[in-house]
Amino acid sequence: MLLQSVFYLTASLYLCSATPLTSPPQTLVPRDAVTDCQNVTLGLNASCWDLIPRGTGMESWLNTWNSTTTTCEPGERWANCFMRQAGVTTNTTTSIRCDLIGPNTCPEPSIDVFESASAEASYGVASIWALQQYMTTLYQFLEGDQGLSLINTGFLNQTAPRSAKTILVNILDEIGDPVATQLTTIIGSPVPIKQGSFIIPTQAQAQQIVGQTVGNLLQWLMTDWLEGGFTALAIEGNLISILGD
Ligand SMILES: *[C@@H]1O[C@H](CO)[C@@H](O)[C@H](O)[C@H]1NC(C)=O
Ligand SMILES: *[C@@H]1O[C@H](CO)[C@@H](O)[C@H](O)[C@H]1NC(C)=O
Ligand SMILES: *[C@@H]1O[C@H](CO)[C@@H](O)[C@H](O)[C@H]1NC(C)=O
Ligand SMILES: *[C@@H]1O[C@H](CO)[C@@H](O)[C@H](O)[C@H]1NC(C)=O
Ligand SMILES: *[C@@H]1O[C@H](CO)[C@@H](O)[C@H](O)[C@H]1NC(C)=O
Repeated sequence: MLLQSVFYLTASLYLCSATPLTSPPQTLVPRDAVTDCQNVTLGLNASCWDLIPRGTGMESWLNTWNSTTTTCEPGERWANCFMRQAGVTTNTTTSIRCDLIGPNTCPEPSIDVFESASAEASYGVASIWALQQYMTTLYQFLEGDQGLSLINTGFLNQTAPRSAKTILVNILDEIGDPVATQLTTIIGSPVPIKQGSFIIPTQAQAQQIVGQTVGNLLQWLMTDWLEGGFTALAIEGNLISILGD
């Protein structure tokens, strides 16, 4: 698709396809996929999303995490709490903010995290980080010249009221990867972005307001677990897949 090259993440998380650890060690004991998935030092693999923990998959594991964890700090968003509990740290004085757009707000999980956390926690942090990177890349694209011209066209294309949602959905349709496609479904639902708040008064404000919409969407995804936006995006390991693109 037209815009896909913009969305290659320069991910340094290690993935099966990108590391010398590609081949599982040859042993005489037959291995199964779930066993390999549980050993994240072999690399991350999108197909593991539905395989770990054995028989239930990450979606139910994360649901259980959400409903049973009691050690998040007051007001701490679930994604930031998850990263912190998995051992992801930040060297700055600010706390982990994976709910915010920015290249340095959501620390990249280090190899140490993957070596010490459970496989499930490792897949959780990798997905949270991938989504924050994806949304930051999308935001940066929209803020650039190519984004500006698409947003202006989208603005002029619409009859009043001019809606940031509509412009964003059309751009995401053009991007067309599984995460973008799922985002259009989420944006189309009444929950994440309140209709009235994203009406664009003038063309001069269009780019800013579309960018804010992406920021608000990320905040919602990392804050509101129960509405299911994050798990819808993570389905079938789609967030793990974007790390390997
Ligand atoms: C990912 O896991 C699937 C299922 O176990 C396997 O078929 C595939 O080869 C793995 N991909 C990589 C790159 O290791
Ligand atoms: C995980 O994979 C690494 C690298 O191949 C290997 O050295 C280690 O023994 C494996 N751990 C388990 C528990 O299988
Ligand atoms: C924090 O700083 C130490 C020492 O400079 C460095 O080794 C480490 O990678 C940094 N961690 C992160 C998460 O930036
Ligand atoms: C302009 O409108 C057409 C027809 O509704 C639509 O297919 C296209 O995606 C729109 N373009 C933008 C940039 O919004
Ligand atoms: C679980 O989700 C709800 C709704 O988003 C949230 O209020 C709660 O803090 C979450 N729990 C954890 C442990 O993050």
